[in-house]
Amino acid sequence: MCSVPGLSAAQQTPKLVLLGRSRSSRTLCCPAFAAIPKVRARRTSRRVILSFGASFFERLMSMATGAGSSFSASARPRGSPIEEVLNNVKWPETFPFKAEDFQRFDESPDTFFYSEPRFVTHIDDPAIRALTNYYAKVFPPSNTPGVAMLDLCSSWVSHFPAGYKQERIVGMGMNEEELKRNPVLTEYIVQDLNVNPKLPFEDNSFDVITNVVSVDYLNKPIEVFKEMQRVLKPGGLALMSFSNRCFWTKAISIWTSTGDSDHVWIVGAYFHYAGGFEPPQAVDISPNPGRSDPMYVVYSRKGKANEA
Ligand SMILES: C[S@@+](CC[C@H](N)C(=O)[O-])C[C@H]1O[C@@H](n2cnc3c(N)ncnc32)[C@H](O)[C@@H]1O
Repeated sequence: MCSVPGLSAAQQTPKLVLLGRSRSSRTLCCPAFAAIPKVRARRTSRRVILSFGASFFERLMSMATGAGSSFSASARPRGSPIEEVLNNVKWPETFPFKAEDFQRFDESPDTFFYSEPRFVTHIDDPAIRALTNYYAKVFPPSNTPGVAMLDLCSSWVSHFPAGYKQERIVGMGMNEEELKRNPVLTEYIVQDLNVNPKLPFEDNSFDVITNVVSVDYLNKPIEVFKEMQRVLKPGGLALMSFSNRCFWTKAISIWTSTGDSDHVWIVGAYFHYAGGFEPPQAVDISPNPGRSDPMYVVYSRKGKANEA
């Protein structure tokens, strides 16, 4: 287990903490950076409380349009505002993140933090069911000849539908004992993507790539997303799902200092700036808004014209 200077053993016990409010409409307004000192000042609390103001997402939209316009809650159409975040985005011309956005509170090697297996689930059962049901709708049918899938940041569970099988389902993660126990995987690879973001697969290998509640731990996300684009088959689908919880000491600072809508924008930006993907989209599959963990998916397909 990693050691965070200044924290007691109990405080260091890794557990996913709740980030801010659970509903997207509330998290549209989290200031990007003001929350960081607050988080650090409240080391004794596991709960990361974010305050409200102009969101990172809103600020980026202003940068992109050159106007003061922002994503307005009052202009919301019916449905979840989360699903609007990636509609008609005018992405800034240059990559909008800075090196410090990808720093973590705990910069010790990830191998320490993940050295012990955790046979736990990181989101509640309704959120898991929502994700599994969503997978059942968008995955290729079980046992489709030639289909290969890759679960990034995998563990002992992938949340695939019960009995789901393909010829090849690869899991990549940090803990071998967890990966060994994952019943859906046909093979696994232990690799620290923050040290080596290169995916050890040939071009155009996979039909689907999944990543559950872990995109926030990647400190070289563009490298990883470029690799995802390379190893996906043309038209292949990448599904990045997340909730509002994380191991906050290991999540990148731009994630711990922003809210759910910002997270959608950030993951959408990874697809956009990696290149070779169709415009990303977001779907809110939260099962019981306000009563159980929210669940969001940001997804895109490798452009058919962009074979690696
Ligand atoms: C919160 S757990 C989620 C596990 C699993 N996807 C699930 O839904 O239960 C975070 C996962 O991210 C993976 N991970 C974290 N940092 C990583 C890194 N640097 N490289 C590769 N995987 C990483 C770990 O192996 C761990 O299983």
